[in-house]
Amino acid sequence: MDKPKVVLGVSGGIAAYKACELLRRFTESGHDVRVVPTAAALHFVGAATWSALSGNPVATEVWDDVHEVPHVRIGQHADLVVVAPATADMLAKAAHGLADDLLTNTLLTARCPVVFAPAMHTEMWEHPATQENVATLRRRGAVVIEPAVGRLTGVDTGKGRLPDPGEIFEVCRRVLARGSATPDLEGRHVVVSAGGTREPLDPVRFLGNRSSGKQGYALARTAAARGARVTLVAANTGLPDPAGVDVVRVGTAVQLREAVLKAAADADAVVMAAAVADFRPSAYAAGKIKKKDGQEPDPIVLVRNPDVLAEISAERARPGQVIVGFAAETDDVLANGRAKLARKGCDLLVVNEVGERKTFGAEESEAVVLGADGSETPVPYGPKEDLADTVWDLVVRRLG
Ligand code: CTP
Repeated sequence: MDKPKVVLGVSGGIAAYKACELLRRFTESGHDVRVVPTAAALHFVGAATWSALSGNPVATEVWDDVHEVPHVRIGQHADLVVVAPATADMLAKAAHGLADDLLTNTLLTARCPVVFAPAMHTEMWEHPATQENVATLRRRGAVVIEPAVGRLTGVDTGKGRLPDPGEIFEVCRRVLARGSATPDLEGRHVVVSAGGTREPLDPVRFLGNRSSGKQGYALARTAAARGARVTLVAANTGLPDPAGVDVVRVGTAVQLREAVLKAAADADAVVMAAAVADFRPSAYAAGKIKKKDGQEPDPIVLVRNPDVLAEISAERARPGQVIVGFAAETDDVLANGRAKLARKGCDLLVVNEVGERKTFGAEESEAVVLGADGSETPVPYGPKEDLADTVWDLVVRRLG
C-alpha cells in the first residue's frame, strides 16, 4: 500500500521548531511527508533540517523545479495538508486565497482535508481580522485547531501557543482516518466529561474509582478533529491535554456538576463519559483521621451526590441538545442498559460490558450504543477512538 502523502506547511513563527517533532511523528508512523516552509519559516528552521527529517526535497518558492509544476502537483497529490505553525499572516492569506509562494499555492490546489494549527501572540489571535479569517476557513471545511494557553515568546503568556506536537499529530491521524474534508461538527460546541471523581474524607484520603479518562479524552480528541469546539471537564486524569480542547479540571462530583452545567449552557451535545461517584462522605475531617488504640474505626456515612446526567437530560439547556450517557454493566447488559437509558432520560447510552479483559484503563473497548428511539448500534472491540467516532456519528444524525 502507498504511504499516505502528507504536506507539512510551516509558516514563520518561533513554534516552527516544534514542527520538527510533528514531522518525526509522521515519518515514524509511515507517512510520506513533503515539508513546504515559507521563506519566513526558514529564518527559524533551515531547509537542511526539513529535508533530512523528511527524506524529501524542500522548496519554498514556485520557481524551483518548474518543469514538475510543483505549485499544482504537491497539493493535488496530498492526502492531508497540515500547516503548523500557522501564523496570523498565513491564516489571512489562506482565507483570502492569496498564492504568492509554494505553500499558499498548495493550499489552493489541495482537495484533501486541511488542518491549521495556529500559533501567535494572544492579541493577534483575538484580533477580529484573525477571528474572521479562522471562521472563513472553518466554514470552508478546514480544521483550525484552537491554540493552547501558556507561555508565549518572550515574557508573555496567554492563548496562542502551538499545541503539543503529539496532540496535533493525533488530530491529523483522525482526520486522515476519516478521509473527510467536511468536518461535520464544525460550528458545534460539545462538552465531554472524563475521568473519575474523588470524594475527600480528610486532607489525605478520598473515595474514588479506577476510571482512566481515556474514553473521554478519545471523545474530545475525535470531536476536535471533526471541527467541534470542545470543552473537556476532566476529573483526576493524568493525560496530556488534547490539542484544541478547552480543559476544565475538577475533583469532586459537585465540582464536576458545576463545570458541566456551566459549559452545557450553550452546548449542542453533552457526553458524560466520567465515572461520577454516586455517594460522598457526609462529613469532611479538616485534620487527618487518626487511628485510636483499642478502638474500632468510626463508620463512614455517605450521602447521595447529584445525578448530573439525569439533571441535564431533564432540563435541557437548549432545545435539541443531544445528551449521551455511559453505563458499565456486568449482567443483562442490554436490559439493564435500556432501563438506565429510560431512567436517566438521555438520548443515547453507551453500554460497556465490564468483566474479564475489559478492565479500566485499557486502550480498547467494545460497546453497544442504545438510542432513546429504540436503535441499537454495536461497536466491535477496537480502539476507544472508533467508539468515540461512532458516538459522534450518532450525535451528528440527531443534531440534523
Ligand atoms: N452520572 C452522573 N452523575 C452521577 C452518577 C453518574 O452524571 N452522580 C453519569 C455518568 O457520567 C454516566 C452515567 O451517569 O454517564 C452512569 O450512570 P450510573 O447510574 O452512575 O451508572 P452506574 O453507577 O453503573 O449505575 P448503577 O448504580 O445503577 O449500576
